[in-house]
Amino acid sequence: MNNTTVDIYFFTGTGNTFLAASKIAKTLENSNCTVNIFDIAKTDVKSIDLSHTIGIGFPIACWNTFPIVKIFINNLPIVGGTTEVFIFTTMGDSSLNAASNFGYVLKNKGYKIIGTHGFLMPNNFIAVRKETKNIKKREKAYKEMDVFTKSLIEENTEPIKTSLLFKLCFAITNFITDRWKGKLFQKIVKFKVKKNICNKCNLCINICPTKNIGLDKNNYPVFKAQNCQICMRCISYCPQKAIKSFLIKKTYQALNQQELNKCFF
Ligand SMILES: Cc1cc2nc3c(=O)[nH]c(=O)nc-3n(C[C@H](O)[C@H](O)[C@H](O)COP(=O)(O)O)c2cc1C
Ligand code: SF4
Ligand code: SF4
Repeated sequence: MNNTTVDIYFFTGTGNTFLAASKIAKTLENSNCTVNIFDIAKTDVKSIDLSHTIGIGFPIACWNTFPIVKIFINNLPIVGGTTEVFIFTTMGDSSLNAASNFGYVLKNKGYKIIGTHGFLMPNNFIAVRKETKNIKKREKAYKEMDVFTKSLIEENTEPIKTSLLFKLCFAITNFITDRWKGKLFQKIVKFKVKKNICNKCNLCINICPTKNIGLDKNNYPVFKAQNCQICMRCISYCPQKAIKSFLIKKTYQALNQQELNKCFF
């Protein structure tokens, strides 16, 4: 790495990617780097300092990622080849090489891609496993994060590579995730608040990254259905388990209360 100042931009739904960003930051700090962590949902790309090394971390959704992340990546300015970028993803099972494919998107914009990696973390969508299994999966991922971060520092990461098949898959998943927002996908997941359980704490409203949840006339949360990313944050962290969806039987929380405050507020 050319820089000792690293800015990590992350998006997270249920916390895995925040934990990954924090772990990578800690390893970099132990090697005398100064690291700043920023939430993509709260970042104006115009404020990004392109003289720093940039890390971008996000969860995999439909072998791709959420529109909010894609908009961030697409809005990054074209540069002249000196701005270093590394990309990391967290996923439940497989990503079809999404980190590398996004690496190519940024390489074509003139960024110097110094490393890409996808980390297997607990699944937060539909196939949510038991916490004992999730703990083991996180521990394994943390070790891999250490190795990846050290290889960034020592400049011995593998060069990005993709194949025609992965490129084709990326084009298809881009097509799907570009249409992720809006009524169709909201209808598929169909979040609903059970008013007899909801205690009107407003946590879901405050932590929604796209301000997609408002209040009805009786001050119960109501989903606006225009800008939901299906990131799982609201349904997973509702303290009353009052948000329901016919598709989601079990939810996943990566963060404890302290981490939740640090990550979302
Ligand atoms: C809508 C949605 C789609 C997902 N699609 C995939 C997928 O295609 N492949 C995969 O391995 N994991 C998938 N996942 C699981 C997440 O990528 C994984 O649990 C990730 O670590 C969550 O990160 P977060 O806690 O930072 O939000 C999906 C999750 C959601 C909510
Ligand atoms: S987080 Fe749950 S309990 Fe709190 S307002 Fe939202 S739905 Fe109601
Ligand atoms: S409504 Fe819930 S799932 Fe949709 S973007 Fe907001 S927090 Fe995420």
